[in-house]
Amino acid sequence: MIITIDGPAGSGKSTTARRVAAQLGYVYLDTGAMYRAVALGFLRADVPRTADGAAKVLPTLRVDVQYRGDTMQVLLGGQDVTHQIRSAEVDHVVSDVSTLAAVREYMVDEQRRIGREQAEEHGGVVLDGRDTGTVVFPDADLKVFMVADVDERARRRQQEYAEAGDTIPFEEVRAEIEQRDRQDRTRDIAPLRRAEDAVELDTTDCTIAEQVDFVVDRVKAHPDWGT
Ligand code: DC
Repeated sequence: MIITIDGPAGSGKSTTARRVAAQLGYVYLDTGAMYRAVALGFLRADVPRTADGAAKVLPTLRVDVQYRGDTMQVLLGGQDVTHQIRSAEVDHVVSDVSTLAAVREYMVDEQRRIGREQAEEHGGVVLDGRDTGTVVFPDADLKVFMVADVDERARRRQQEYAEAGDTIPFEEVRAEIEQRDRQDRTRDIAPLRRAEDAVELDTTDCTIAEQVDFVVDRVKAHPDWGT
């Protein structure tokens, strides 16, 4: 069973995807974390966020994911960078890096490979990102597109920063999210958009439990569920 959850930053994808996977005994694949690891690679190598920069740095980068129980860890060159990729610095550059064709080719191949492997081994995989239902797995069994009001998304993101020890003014977080949405939606390759066959969920007024139930109920209603 392949389940994709796409949507803009802060719409609730990752919390939902993680919990849905845990409830169903499936594996969670956070595709944004993989783009973040590549973005960290660009920052560390100090190369421009252009096709030339990508040609220089990509051959030297290795991004892997590994699982510790329910937790997905991201490795860059064998080093665990799961926490480093959540910094405001990475937030700032990741959207630029993810517009580059060479980066997307590398990531999509890896995501398909990992997704198929994990689904085979555990019966299912839940991916979240921007193009997981449109490009990575266009034949997914269930596609969800999550949206939420921008103020609510900024509030959630500000709280995540606060939990990581970063105090960032609300207006700044909101502006960053709006800028990232615009870039993710208007880029040439694999822009953020709802797949035609995706079900839309507006999480502005949803509890996490409601979001999770929404997806789990649809998985259980699928004709292949339990086969
Ligand atoms: O979900 P996130 O905020 O961790 O994603 C970080 C960035 O990575 C996002 O701004 C766009 C990019 N991304 C992408 O282009 N395609 C995906 N499938 C997932 C993320």
